[in-house]
Amino acid sequence: MRTKQFKIIVLIISSLFLVTLATAADKSAQIDPTLELINVLGCKGCHTIGAEGGSLAADLTQIGSRMSAQQIKAQLIVEPADRTGGFMPSYRPLLEEDLDRISEYLYSLP
Ligand code: HEC
Repeated sequence: MRTKQFKIIVLIISSLFLVTLATAADKSAQIDPTLELINVLGCKGCHTIGAEGGSLAADLTQIGSRMSAQQIKAQLIVEPADRTGGFMPSYRPLLEEDLDRISEYLYSLP
């Protein structure tokens, strides 16, 4: 009897675990990989992008109406010492491809 109850509990717990895994996989499938990169890089610690982010620096949601993708990209690799409007790290160490992806993504935000 005890073993049976134990098995049932294990079954319930493992199915809950599977549901959690499935939901997590679903969510990451829906998130744009470039947005995921932006999240990992911490841009939203300072900038608002879309519905979330900080207010230490300019809101980037409508950056595409002020700058071209090339101009956005140029901003990402400015050395901190060359900035006058506050601190932002230089993202120069990123792959060229990732700098392009991020710039195009921000440029194309509605
Ligand atoms: C530590 C805070 C911080 C982080 C993190 C940060 N930024 Fe910035 N960002 C700033 C500040 C401050 C400025 C304004 C700098 C200036 O005027 O020279 C700025 C300026 C910019 C600009 C130019 C905006 C404009 O209106 O001129 C762009 C584009 C930009 N950031 C994109 C990004 C992206 C993309 C990331 C992540 C990859 C990022 N930033 C991460 C603080 C940050």
